[in-house]
Order: sequence, then C-alpha cells, then structure tokens
Amino acid sequence: MKKIFLVLGFCACVFAQTIKVGISPDYPPFEYMQNGEITGFDHDLAVEIGKVLGDEIKFVPLSFDGLVAALKSGKIDMVVSGMTKTKEREKSCDFSQTYYDSVTYYVKLKSRDDIKSISDLNGKKVGAQIGTIQAKEASKINGVKMALNADPIVFVTGVLKGKVDAFAIDSVVAQEYMKKYSEFEVFAKTNPGENSSFNIAFKKGSTALKDRVDGALTTLKENGVYAKLLKKYNLD
Ligand code: ARG
Repeated sequence: MKKIFLVLGFCACVFAQTIKVGISPDYPPFEYMQNGEITGFDHDLAVEIGKVLGDEIKFVPLSFDGLVAALKSGKIDMVVSGMTKTKEREKSCDFSQTYYDSVTYYVKLKSRDDIKSISDLNGKKVGAQIGTIQAKEASKINGVKMALNADPIVFVTGVLKGKVDAFAIDSVVAQEYMKKYSEFEVFAKTNPGENSSFNIAFKKGSTALKDRVDGALTTLKENGVYAKLLKKYNLD
C-alpha cells in the first residue's frame, strides 16, 4: 500500500506544472505588498486555483502595463491582477470566467467644490494607472490633462497634496483609499455594463490552461472557498 502512495506521490510531482502568474501588486485589496510579500484577494485566489489543480503557483511581479506583453512572450502563463476583460484585450488574450464585477470611480478631495462631474475635469489634471482602462477612458475627457503613473500611489498622493485634481480607479480600490483617507470622495461612476468584470487573462490560444483554470474557479465558487476569500478582503 505504502508503495502505491509513494508511486502516486511521485507521479503527482512529475506531472505538477508550475503556473507563472503575472501580478502588479499595487492595487489593494486585490494585490498589494505587505511586509515584503505579495498579498490580496487575487493573490489568494491564484494560490487556491493552484491547490485545486495540484500545480505550483509562482508569482511574477510586473508593472500593470507590462502584463499583456509578458503573456505574449511566455514570461508568464496567466494574469491575475484585477484585469478587466475588454474587446481590445480579447484580440491578444483569452479570458477566464468572471471572478469579480467592478466599475470605475472618479475620486477628488471633498474640499474641491469646483469639481462636481466629469465635465468639470476640462483643463484639470486626472491621475490614472498606465495601461489601464481608466487611463484610456479618462484621456478622452474634453480638455483633460493626464497624470499617468505606473504605480497608483503616485497620483493618489498627488491628489492628497493638491498637485493632481482627481483620479480614476476601480470602485473597490477607490473605496479602499477612501477608508484610509477621509478627505477623499467619489464624484462620478462610469462603465456600468461594459468593461466591468475582472477575469484571469491568458495568452491567446492557451485553451488547455484556460479550461483547467475555469474548472478550478467553478470548484472554488461551489466549495465555499471563493466566498471565504471575498469575506476575508471585505469584498462581499
Ligand atoms: N481594471 C483595470 C484594467 O484592467 C485596472 C487594473 C489594475 N490592476 C492592478 N493590479 N494595478 O485596466
């Protein structure tokens, strides 16, 4: 009997894959650094997917705007990084089933009475993360000046200091910053319906991995683990 287990264990080891997960750990509560370690909902979700599949998960931290290129080059196998499924990204990536719904929030200082809606951003400086749907959307605002950064903390601090007028970011991330800084408030919400779901991204044509990950996501949604993670990060 022992021998059988040894052999089975050996086979599992031999056949276990390493899945390289691209992540941009600058987006609390989805992915962020804590005591030098990557953590957050997406991090934990990837770990749980690895457990269901019996595969090793290796995180590759990258800036958000480098993730799709890293998928294409094979540096990473999938992206779990609050990435929104869009028509444009679907040209070069395949996406898993949805694991979270999000819209975009525009945030400013409560004291800025001159900004009441998106049209008030004409001539104003708006922060957004490079390579995101928020950067693309905000740059279309009439007369806007963009403050684009690879790490959102730069424009978040910019708004706190009055150097940037507002920023655009995913709803839950905005809420996280509003909990931390009571001087912030949301003055506009966009994207309902379209471009509003987080999905795991794969290189186009990675059907085998995508199908396995979709299966694992279904398992985690059914066995209560997904709900536990939502609760852990106050996302439920
Ligand atoms: N949801 C947005 C997008 O896909 C922003 C995601 C940013 N994620 C991050 N980990 N910084 O464009």
